[in-house]
Amino acid sequence: MEKAFNLTSPTHIQIEVTESCNHSCFYCYNHWRIKDYPKKHMTYSNAKILSQIIKKDIRPFIATITGGEPFINYSVTKLFAEELGKEEITVGINTNLVAAKKDKLEDISKTNPNITLLTSLPSFKREVYQQITGADTLPHYLKNLRDAIDVGIGVNVNMVAHQLNKNHVYDEGKFLLEEFGINSFAVTPMIRPALRTLDGMDLEDEDNVKIFTDLIKLREENGMRTAILEVTPRCGVPEELRDDAIFSRGCSAGKITSTISYNGDLRVCAHAPFSEGSLITENFADIWKKVEPWRDHGYMPSECRDCLEVQFCQGGCRFAGYKEGQPLDTKDYRMKEPIRLRKDTPTFSFDPALEYEVVPFRFRKEREGEYLLYCNGDFYLQMKD
Ligand SMILES: C[S@@+](CC[C@H](N)C(=O)[O-])C[C@H]1O[C@@H](n2cnc3c(N)ncnc32)[C@H](O)[C@@H]1O
Ligand code: SF4
Ligand code: SF4
Repeated sequence: MEKAFNLTSPTHIQIEVTESCNHSCFYCYNHWRIKDYPKKHMTYSNAKILSQIIKKDIRPFIATITGGEPFINYSVTKLFAEELGKEEITVGINTNLVAAKKDKLEDISKTNPNITLLTSLPSFKREVYQQITGADTLPHYLKNLRDAIDVGIGVNVNMVAHQLNKNHVYDEGKFLLEEFGINSFAVTPMIRPALRTLDGMDLEDEDNVKIFTDLIKLREENGMRTAILEVTPRCGVPEELRDDAIFSRGCSAGKITSTISYNGDLRVCAHAPFSEGSLITENFADIWKKVEPWRDHGYMPSECRDCLEVQFCQGGCRFAGYKEGQPLDTKDYRMKEPIRLRKDTPTFSFDPALEYEVVPFRFRKEREGEYLLYCNGDFYLQMKD
């Protein structure tokens, strides 16, 4: 296995500004959601402390404000949008949009003109949307989506796929493109939440293949930017699809991402149900040191260590269907067999007939003589001066 980068801090941080939510999506991975949603919000004073820690100690390139539902704790969401935006951190809000009224959308866009939204649209069919979220709020979602676009905020949409909506992927993509001009659409196959059981909602292999091919078709036929937002074990993807860009995500927990809970605790990722330490009472660097095994291929399932795809999927999700007390190197329930033979990795060749977009990179100093180059959310490399 290749040696992993040992970054001095994550490049992407998620900030949970509340544990509360106005929806109750049956698949939601929020670990505190055993029965009902607690009304636990990040306080404004902790948010001020945490925004300084993020700017000075963590120095991420991207920050995603999430929850629960972040528009429920709007003053804190706004504080992060403003404070982190000043440091040229790319700030996004992950939201179900139903509490994002036009005055708030205008306000957040004035506060941080570069802010983008990652909104969840579980289904564009009203009955299915209600069945999934427990709320008949699709008309509010669509109204607020229209307002966000009118206000000029960049919008990306994510749909979590499962048995109730698995056949709607292509049509939902076309709906967003034709009705709203949205061309950034992710469909993320549902990952079983930690600490809860969900019966009968897992996707079968053939369901996944249809979802993958629908996403590729939306891109190839309609020019949409399509993605899957969580790691997909590559051994579960047919060989002919495996190198597609939609499978670019691996397990990033404690390596390049981390999540801050409403009370300032740091977790290795949003799916992780336990805290590694409190940013309010401990130094970030000390907590990050504690999670070093995550960056050193720790907790990698032994079956994955010699797999030829391990550099891409990093052994799948450690918290998929996680149960209390389970060893962290338990294999992802979606894993099949390690891959022993693989086609050559496709090489890039420049085609002068095509148009290319040049994406600017940013950098930060890691250690003496080492810098991290960061480009387009996905690529990074270290170099010495
Ligand atoms: C927990 S939500 C919080 C933000 C906001 N309430 C929303 O739904 O967009 C964060 C993201 O996780 C996705 N998500 C929730 N449960 C999931 C699961 N079991 N598998 C994959 N994605 C999930 C949601 O669709 C959303 O994009
Ligand atoms: S809207 Fe988001 S936080 Fe709320 S239940 Fe759904 S996925 Fe979870
Ligand atoms: S065997 Fe492990 S590393 Fe290989 S593709 Fe499957 S989950 Fe990923």
